Amino acid sequence: MEHNIYRKDQISHEDYQKSADWLLSQTQHRPKIAIICGSGLGLLAEVLQFQDSFKYSEIPGFPHSTVQGHAGRLVFGELRGKTCVCMQGRFHMYEGYSLSKVTFPVRVFKLLGVETLIVTNAAGSLADSYHCGDIMIIKDHINIPGLAGLNPLNGPNDDKFGPRFPPMSGAYDKDLRKLAFDICKSLGMSKFVQEGVYCMVGGPNFESVAEAGLLHRLGADAVGMSTAPEVVVAQHCGVRVFGLSLITNKVVRRYGDSDTVDHQAVLEVSAMRAAALQELVAELVGRMDMNNNTAM
Ligand code: HPA
Repeated sequence: MEHNIYRKDQISHEDYQKSADWLLSQTQHRPKIAIICGSGLGLLAEVLQFQDSFKYSEIPGFPHSTVQGHAGRLVFGELRGKTCVCMQGRFHMYEGYSLSKVTFPVRVFKLLGVETLIVTNAAGSLADSYHCGDIMIIKDHINIPGLAGLNPLNGPNDDKFGPRFPPMSGAYDKDLRKLAFDICKSLGMSKFVQEGVYCMVGGPNFESVAEAGLLHRLGADAVGMSTAPEVVVAQHCGVRVFGLSLITNKVVRRYGDSDTVDHQAVLEVSAMRAAALQELVAELVGRMDMNNNTAM
């Protein structure tokens, strides 16, 4: 793989179409919902029924995943009676992928007929009121690489996918957030569910104390190294989005605080809350109204 995140890959509409056509020829499933599983959250894909799965390496045009804890498979199947496609492992900018590669699957999903994208990730908390193991329903994001010009939509606009200047103000669907809150209440999960702003940084290092303070003052409640590019591309092509962050660590915001973070700790907390997160997503999928693109 060539490591140049700044290069705009020459990916044409036909390249996305080729991947989509290959997948459509290999499976009978016709998903309307796509789910991106974040670090340690890939178990969600295991519970799909009537599975057809494909290693990224066998799908024409697909990038391959390298990070620990990411299996690198696309899994098709049914969740609560709805046909879904799950990404078990996503592509990160810090792995060296261009943002067109990071977001490649989202456009393939669009061509498969997907109307709703559910994104999950592991994140560190900046908000004092958050705890390890909390689930944050993403209300909005701050896309630090995007603000600095690292945007998957850079380059000539593909009008077949969406407009040159897409809005981002309503990116995280309000009806789905409300439905998720109602589900959390009925599942007795409210005490560890928050709603907040996710901030994407490039990584792969965790934040310095000064950086964490900066992001907190900017209005971020949680910080992670993914998600915003996929959401930007989904919003651009009219796919509605729902997002969840699993809070795996508290980010050190004060000098002398002892909390430290490493990737192992992130995976451990993911494992602890994976079942709850899985249940929330399954219930959300089950109760999603597919006909008029709103939640019931
Ligand atoms: N910072 C950035 N990304 C993360 C963190 C963090 O503290 N935890 C999990 N992903």
